[in-house]
Amino acid sequence: MEHLIQIEGEPKSNEIRKIAAKYIGKGHKTYTPTQLVTEKAEGVYLWNVEGRRLIDFAAGVLVANLGHNHPEFEAAYQKYSAGMPRSSYNTLTEQEVYAAKRLIEKLDCPRLEKLLWADSGSAAIIKAMWAAQHYQPDKHIIVATRYGFHGKKGLAGDTTGEESDNPNVRFISFPICDYCTLVPEDKKRQEEVCRPIYETELKKLQQAYSDDIVLLITEPYLGAHGSFHPPKWYHQLLNRWCDENNVTFILDEIQSCYGRTGEMYAFQKYGIEPDIVVLGKGIGNGEPVAVAVGRSEIIDTLDYGEASDTYSGNPRACAAILAVLDVYEKVLVVENCRKISPIIETGLKRLENDFEFVASVRGEGLVWGLEVKAYKGKSAAEIANECVYRCYKEGLHLMGPLAEKVLRISPPLIISEEVTRKGLQLMYSAFQQMI
Ligand SMILES: Cc1ncc(COP(=O)(O)O)c(C=O)c1O
Repeated sequence: MEHLIQIEGEPKSNEIRKIAAKYIGKGHKTYTPTQLVTEKAEGVYLWNVEGRRLIDFAAGVLVANLGHNHPEFEAAYQKYSAGMPRSSYNTLTEQEVYAAKRLIEKLDCPRLEKLLWADSGSAAIIKAMWAAQHYQPDKHIIVATRYGFHGKKGLAGDTTGEESDNPNVRFISFPICDYCTLVPEDKKRQEEVCRPIYETELKKLQQAYSDDIVLLITEPYLGAHGSFHPPKWYHQLLNRWCDENNVTFILDEIQSCYGRTGEMYAFQKYGIEPDIVVLGKGIGNGEPVAVAVGRSEIIDTLDYGEASDTYSGNPRACAAILAVLDVYEKVLVVENCRKISPIIETGLKRLENDFEFVASVRGEGLVWGLEVKAYKGKSAAEIANECVYRCYKEGLHLMGPLAEKVLRISPPLIISEEVTRKGLQLMYSAFQQMI
């Protein structure tokens, strides 16, 4: 049991970790040095089986935007799912059609007319790409932006990262330089310096493959690669290039949707209109559901059964979609995200200022990354894991580091000012123990 995690003072958690190590393949989880064993969750708090309370700065993996056991969400979810069948395969329910209608009306974007349900983000990405391929079947080349994360399965995995076994996939650069991601005050200069690099790359791509490019897939910001948030002109450039070259533009908003960036959708914030937008995570507040929403003429190229599977669009998934939309109509979720964002930014910048091992801070809305570096003989990865562990001991739950050295700060969007400040204070105390 070489992957067994045991933490002093946690006898019950340790027992459960032992059973997990025996019966669950370690590949099932992303490594997190704390392996919190949760017994209860409410709002922005999690309790471990020893009864210790932790502030949740992870929201699952940016899933529980409304926090845990949100009373209005749970009541609406019960209302919409009561008495429903377990499956709606080859049948329809009112919940399913109204969930689709409301979700699309909420998007309020002329190009986003029709959807395909999916039971995971990566499955929705694959369906989006299938639709684009059916729409222009004579084209072969798939363009993806480098270091993106679209999932691990099939075509989603092929377009993730920086290289692919799929001979039709080509990667283009995504802005990760300091100029683009760290100096927003100097926007004009930044655009003058960096924009020509991306324009040249797109021109070369067009020259190399002229009419053979079927789709371009990107995400608003690089999440898994370590929280790199590009300037707006970058996505606008991609959008225009796709329109001019008749390439289907797919935006992966699985993580960014429903307010994470401070706008309901990142495509609104970045001022773009993709042909297909893929939504996941927060749209079900934890229920496994995702969607690809796009232009009807693209989505309708898939015939009966070509995008169907056992669980997609099942009654409980649709009940969650409706319940989430109900809450967003009543509670100022996105507005709260905007209010809390500068508090997080200030708190993280303070850490950057006061601790030598903090290299940089990047983010927007309530999705932030704090990059650490090697310090006192420890590698950046060791420092990052130690930060997660010490925060846990202080009473703050973080997910395992992104790209080995970036701490992800992404609390539920409904977090209060007071708890945010408390969480940041716990991070500060944890970091103090490391100097
Ligand atoms: C931007 C993005 N795309 C795709 C995925 C894959 O979604 P799933 O894990 O639900 O397949 C994720 C998951 O983290 C994501 O963040």
